[in-house]
Amino acid sequence: MNKQKIIFSGIQPSGQMHIGHYIGAISQWVEMQKDYDCVFSIVDYHAITVKQNPEELRRRIIEVTKIYLAAGIDSQKSIIFQQSAIPAHTELAWIFNCYGARMADLNRMTQFKDKAGENRESVGVGLFDYPVLMAADILLYDTDIVPVGEDQKQHVELARDIARRFNSEFGEIFKIPQSVVRQEGARIMSLLDPAKKMSKSDVNQNNCIALLDSPEAAKKKIMRAVTDSGIEITYDLVNKPAIANLLTIYAQLGTRQVKRLEKDYAGHGYGEFKKDLAEVVAKFLEDFQKKYNRISDDDVVKILEDGRKKAEAIAQKKLEEVRKLIGVR
Ligand code: TYM
Repeated sequence: MNKQKIIFSGIQPSGQMHIGHYIGAISQWVEMQKDYDCVFSIVDYHAITVKQNPEELRRRIIEVTKIYLAAGIDSQKSIIFQQSAIPAHTELAWIFNCYGARMADLNRMTQFKDKAGENRESVGVGLFDYPVLMAADILLYDTDIVPVGEDQKQHVELARDIARRFNSEFGEIFKIPQSVVRQEGARIMSLLDPAKKMSKSDVNQNNCIALLDSPEAAKKKIMRAVTDSGIEITYDLVNKPAIANLLTIYAQLGTRQVKRLEKDYAGHGYGEFKKDLAEVVAKFLEDFQKKYNRISDDDVVKILEDGRKKAEAIAQKKLEEVRKLIGVR
């Protein structure tokens, strides 16, 4: 089929992984494995763009790898690796800092503006430069498709711009990648404020269902989730953003599509809907965590080492070509 197409994506091992990561990113990856050659990274050098506790970071790297595996990423089919294990990523990012990436582009990045907020002058340079490292991640592997949640689309656009600029100076070396986001679930929202994205950096954990939350705790969070005015359970992003978000979660973690759910819940109240959704989420977490708990730390070490070897061979080859083109080899 489309075997020759290459997929690349990654997640930062910072904070708790939640159902937004699963629905927006990982569940897409699992489907894509069937038809494409996939490379999935644990992007630890992105994580250190904000302060990390070293012990916790080490633990999260293992945790994210286990989450990939428990979700159904197959290490026999796909390459899974830790970003910092392959120096070609940071080296190419540096080269892009000098060729291709422009201050004006980075200044436009909405995620930087959000994260830096008022502290724009005092945050680390890494936070500003983060999309350039992401471009290097993607472009090293001749990636065709980058499956991500909505919030990363702008960064993939930047990777495309950098690739085009570099190519126009040195020839067609980088493939121009494309982002792919889910039609439903590209942006899972906070349970307490449907105007905000569900986020691992959120201080109030009731906003967010972590993939490693106990099923009981997750049920309570769903029951506490805000709803909208009115009584009908309909998918209406403008007038019923909270219910639309809950319907999306229900459809993505359960077996019924949104349209079906709307029909099935016609004439039923929010309370009943949330109770059923709580059961669906709890069941999903239970099954997921059973798989997660079967994976040992030793398994992870072996898989990451195997992935490093495979990914490094590809990345190093591309980097050599780039080094030659710019004249350092
Ligand atoms: P990160 O670690 O913030 O998020 C990982 C993936 O999860 C998606 N996501 C969501 N999707 C739907 N609803 C949500 N509430 C939600 N929260 C997170 C993100 O869109 C993302 O797809 N810079 C990237 C990591 C990265 C990367 C890459 C991705 C580094 N290099 C190369 C693709 C290709 C990031 O910080 O994602």
